[in-house]
Amino acid sequence: MRIIVLDNDTDFEGWRKAARRLAINDVKPAEVMWTVRKDDELSLASCVNELPDVPQAQFNVPAIFVELAKAAILHRNDERFALLYRLLWRLRSHHDLLSATDDPDVAEVHAMARAVYGDIDRMHAHLRFREIGRERTAHYVAWFEPEHRIVELAAPFFAGRFADMPWSILTPDVCAHWDGHAIAITPGIAKSEVPTEDRLEEAWRRHDNGLFSPARLKVMEMPQAYWRNLPEDSIIKPLIEDAMRMTSGPFIARKTAEPQQRQDQPMARKQTRDAQARGTIAALRDEAADCRACPLWKDATQTVFGEGPQSATLMLVGEQPGDKEDLAGHPFVGPAGQMLDRALEEAGIDRAKVYITNAVKHFKFVPRGKIRLHQKPNTPEIRACRQWYERELAAIKPELVVALGASAAQSVLGKITPINKSRGRLINHEATKVLVTVHPSYLLRLPDEKAKALEYQRFIDDLKIAAGQLRNSAHAA
Ligand code: URA
Repeated sequence: MRIIVLDNDTDFEGWRKAARRLAINDVKPAEVMWTVRKDDELSLASCVNELPDVPQAQFNVPAIFVELAKAAILHRNDERFALLYRLLWRLRSHHDLLSATDDPDVAEVHAMARAVYGDIDRMHAHLRFREIGRERTAHYVAWFEPEHRIVELAAPFFAGRFADMPWSILTPDVCAHWDGHAIAITPGIAKSEVPTEDRLEEAWRRHDNGLFSPARLKVMEMPQAYWRNLPEDSIIKPLIEDAMRMTSGPFIARKTAEPQQRQDQPMARKQTRDAQARGTIAALRDEAADCRACPLWKDATQTVFGEGPQSATLMLVGEQPGDKEDLAGHPFVGPAGQMLDRALEEAGIDRAKVYITNAVKHFKFVPRGKIRLHQKPNTPEIRACRQWYERELAAIKPELVVALGASAAQSVLGKITPINKSRGRLINHEATKVLVTVHPSYLLRLPDEKAKALEYQRFIDDLKIAAGQLRNSAHAA
């Protein structure tokens, strides 16, 4: 039996490295036991290093498995590492395994990923900050007990939503702290350690009396290291740094631009302003222009928000702006947009009446000389941006949403969705009708002209289903 000791409960990279090495050495799932390191235990390295590495070994798994595994690993089920290794093992000889939804392992991993995403949604919907500290230096704190280990994945949403307020989300697993330009992760705390006004006042008194020293704080008050933005900032700052050294918690986002101008604005006023603004696309677009919910804003030229009439009955969702869209600030104006325009026309849909947006609103790319090569957005980026799609959906209230490609389908349906299984049929999702089809850039990439023509026709057929649905609902109205 091989015992693999991972660094922490959400150590996806550790699991991935160990699983790869085990699989290329043909170590059967039944011969592996997975556990998480306690302070005095062996590290992962000493356990798998006994197995030879074969760096050149080809080991490909479907991208969807990686996305599922990254989510499922956050589930509290103790069997998750073993389940994921079993799936990985089986995927070697059965590449389509993940489509076999009646397979117990496949069903379980999907259920775990769904539970994790549901928990993130619950946290996004229910978490409430309260204000602590003094007027000019207010800090916002929320206590939350997530069902799964989701804090690091869920936190960027709040950085986008409450970008100009310093906040801390305190949980028993880990705490997340936002200072206006980066999220820091520190160890979790017990509910009894959540600060009250009294404890804060006490800290202030000790500070005023010269008793509030960093050393004392480190020993006695470590869990409260989120007091970064209170006036004793210079005292607290090293503590945050210490805390981050003590944990493997990353900076989720790092500062590359000048810090945002801090507005000393009470949370209540901000929430009222949000409430008033919510509902109009123009107001949402203004708000999204400063979105920092994931790191993509740093390299992109601008946020490319959705466009189209607020009365649109059809909403099209793409993946993310491309090079041309990033420069122009409008969705679907480049080559994929031109193909989309042509297909819409052939399907009898007037683009001017459609609201068109993207799952992710900043361009993701890697520079290659003078070219910016498009990169597919990952699940955290899609999830961080989903707040905008949700708010666009609430503002437009379309009859039908058409998701163009896998990233769009993932955002619209809230889960990873294989296109081939779902395309071309109407899906009832929450209060919305959804149709999934391919992305026009997939058609542009097809090398074979015959396949391209066939696929283009299928794309038009899908859009015609959308057009038919809109006609039916217009007649019914
Ligand atoms: N691809 C997309 O998904 N969206 C755009 O806006 C352009 C290309």
